[in-house]
Amino acid sequence: MKVRKAVIPAAGLGTRMLPATKTVPKEMLPMVDKPAIQYIIEEAVAAGIEDILIVTNRAKSAMDDYFDYYPELEDRLNAAGKDRELAEVRRAADLANIFYVRQKETKGLGHAIARARRFVGEEPFAVLLGDDIMRARTPVIGQLIQAAEKYQCSAVGVQQVATEALSKYCSVKVEPLEERIFTVSDVVEKPRREQIFSNYAILGRYVLPPGIFDVLEDLEPGVGGEIQLTDGLRRLCKREKMVAVDFEGRRYDTGNIRGFLEATIDFALDHPTTGPWLKRFLREKVREL
Ligand code: G1P
Repeated sequence: MKVRKAVIPAAGLGTRMLPATKTVPKEMLPMVDKPAIQYIIEEAVAAGIEDILIVTNRAKSAMDDYFDYYPELEDRLNAAGKDRELAEVRRAADLANIFYVRQKETKGLGHAIARARRFVGEEPFAVLLGDDIMRARTPVIGQLIQAAEKYQCSAVGVQQVATEALSKYCSVKVEPLEERIFTVSDVVEKPRREQIFSNYAILGRYVLPPGIFDVLEDLEPGVGGEIQLTDGLRRLCKREKMVAVDFEGRRYDTGNIRGFLEATIDFALDHPTTGPWLKRFLREKVREL
């Protein structure tokens, strides 16, 4: 079982980042020197993914422009001897084979993933949610692919979250299998207190079998009146094996201002051109506070 394809749902309206996202897709907001979505694509590529489908909507064409060549700009950079910038601009367009499909109606995450059926065909595939950006030594989706290959089943990426925060995510019923890996026997989306199975929530990374598409197409709307991917996982884990990987790495919810700033600061600290300066700047700031 080789995972070669990934799906990135990126059709949300960005309502937690307004007014910036009124005309700029949230996935295109710059985190240091790259748009947020490039971090996700780089994670997938680093894990061996070759083909990527981005599920977009009618307000997101800036994304496909970004992953295209731009001859006028490249000629200008070339003539000016700006080799580093030229290389970066080309690199973004050459990262992977990127495909696009539009989710024509906003009907939820499960509905967005269902748009990928023709692209995926009969192979297992990865899902990386556009809002969940990871900073990890080993790509988080790679950690899941390893587990999925070892156990020949689907895998979800989990971490423990505070009980009060679980209602923003989902809650997974788990049995220990080996270090950092669990068997999943149930999962509930946006749980109320009495529905919580454990503090483990899925945080934006999945390896799924093609069989998920039949399940998704059969689902009734769930929480929020939307077709929920989690409801599909619930059915799937009851009929076939699914593992949860307590992944190593930090996850940022970049769909809101706070998570976006945290990620930006951490990536800027890691970045060779901004890191040393930002450290000095933050030290000065802290003294002033
Ligand atoms: C989605 C999923 C949820 C998951 C969360 C974080 O929720 O439905 O199960 O825990 O992403 O990855 P959303 O953030 O779209 O409300």
